[in-house]
Amino acid sequence: MKHITCIEDLRELHRRRVPKAFFDYADRGSYAEQTLRANREDLEQIKFRQRVLVDVSRRDLSTTILGEPAAMPLILAPVGLLGMQHGDGEIHACRAAQAAGIPFTQSTMSICSIEDIAAAVDKPFWFQLYVMKDRGFVRALIERAAAAKCSALVLTVDLHVHGQRHRDIKNGMTVPPELRLNNLIDIATKPAWALSIARGKRKTFGNIVGHHPGMSGVTVLSKWVAEQFDPTLSWKDVEWIKSLWPGKLILKGILDVEDARAAVKNGAAALVVSNHGGRQLDGAPSSISALPAIADAVGGDLEVMFDGGIRSGQDIARAVAIGARSCMSGRAYIYGLGASGEPGVSRAIEIMRNELDITMALMGITRIADIDRSTIVNWPTRQPYEKG
Ligand SMILES: Cc1cc2nc3c(=O)[nH]c(=O)nc-3n(C[C@H](O)[C@H](O)[C@H](O)COP(=O)(O)O)c2cc1C
Repeated sequence: MKHITCIEDLRELHRRRVPKAFFDYADRGSYAEQTLRANREDLEQIKFRQRVLVDVSRRDLSTTILGEPAAMPLILAPVGLLGMQHGDGEIHACRAAQAAGIPFTQSTMSICSIEDIAAAVDKPFWFQLYVMKDRGFVRALIERAAAAKCSALVLTVDLHVHGQRHRDIKNGMTVPPELRLNNLIDIATKPAWALSIARGKRKTFGNIVGHHPGMSGVTVLSKWVAEQFDPTLSWKDVEWIKSLWPGKLILKGILDVEDARAAVKNGAAALVVSNHGGRQLDGAPSSISALPAIADAVGGDLEVMFDGGIRSGQDIARAVAIGARSCMSGRAYIYGLGASGEPGVSRAIEIMRNELDITMALMGITRIADIDRSTIVNWPTRQPYEKG
C-alpha cells in the first residue's frame, strides 16, 4: 500500500477491481452531474494562508464529535450497498473507522444488517435512517438501532424521491437489477471481487430482508425499496422520530439556512450540510458554498457537519476553516473499500489524516480548534439563502 499515496490512487484501483456497474454507482452523480462537479470545484477554490516560523513540532488532530472524543474531525458517511463493493463491506469499513478513532455510519440500505455489524465490532456506531412509507418498518429499525446501542441516529432528509443517475440505468443497476451479458463478462474478469462477495455473509439488503414474511430475493427487495421512499416526508415525521429515538439525532441533507433554523427548532443535535454527494438535486449549490451561511446562522445552536467532495486532508481543513465542526466522507473511503477491503479503508483514512497533519503544520497551526476563517485567504462568498 505504500505506493498508494492519495485518494485518486485508491479510486483507480477500485475502478480496476470492482465491476463497472458498482464503480459507477459509487463514482457518479445525478443528471448532468453539475452539483457533483461543483462540490469539488468550489472546495478547490479555497486557498490557505501559508504561515512560517511557528513551532509546529507538536500537532494535535483530535477533536470531539457530539461530545465524544475523535482522533480527527472525520466521520465515515452512510453509504448504501457497501457490501457489494467488497464482501461484508459495512463490517470492514466500521472496523477501519473504529481502529482509526472516528465514527462510522451504517446506511439503512446496507448489505450487512445492524445486528451483523454490532456483533462484529467493539464500539458503538451510528445508524442512518431513511423514512419509508411503511412506518412500522421505520419504527422497527429505530428500535433495532437502539437495541444495538447505536450512538447517534442520522436522519437523511434529502432522498424522499430519487434523483436519476443515468449511468445506473445504462449499467443495468435498475429495479429490478438487470443481469446483462456484458455485466456477467465484466464480473468474470474481477475474480478477487467475486470471491469476496461470495464469502460475504449476505447478498441483499440485510436490514430489510425478513421484514415481511416471504420477502427475500434481491428483485423483490429492490422493488419494495424503490416504492417505499416517501415524498410526504415532513417536519412532523422528524417530531415523531424524535419521540421514538432516545439518543442524539442528526439531520443529514440540509442546504438551506431556513431548513437549518428549523432543524434547531426541532431539537436536532447536529445537521450535515450536504447535497448527498451530488446524487440528488442536480443544479443545487455545492455543499461548501452553502456552508458559511448555515454555520453563521446555527453554528452556535447545534453541531454543523459537512459533506460533499472531501477527497483529502486539505479538504477537511477547508471545511473546518469555513465553519464545519467535522466532515463526513463518502466516496473517498468507498474507493478504499473497493480497492482492498478493510486495509483500503484504513489507508483512505490514513492518507487524509496525514494530509491534514502536514497541511496544519504548513499553515503554522497545531490544533484543530485553531483552523478558522482567519487561516484561509478566501471562501465561497455566495450566500444564496438570505431573503431580501
Ligand atoms: C455510493 C453512495 C451511496 C450512498 N448511500 C447513501 C445512503 O444510503 N444514505 C445516505 O444518507 N447517504 C448516502 N450517500 C451519500 C453520502 O452519505 C454522502 O452524503 C456523500 O457521499 C458525500 O459526498 P462525497 O462522496 O463526495 O464524500 C451515498 C453516497 C454514495 C457515493
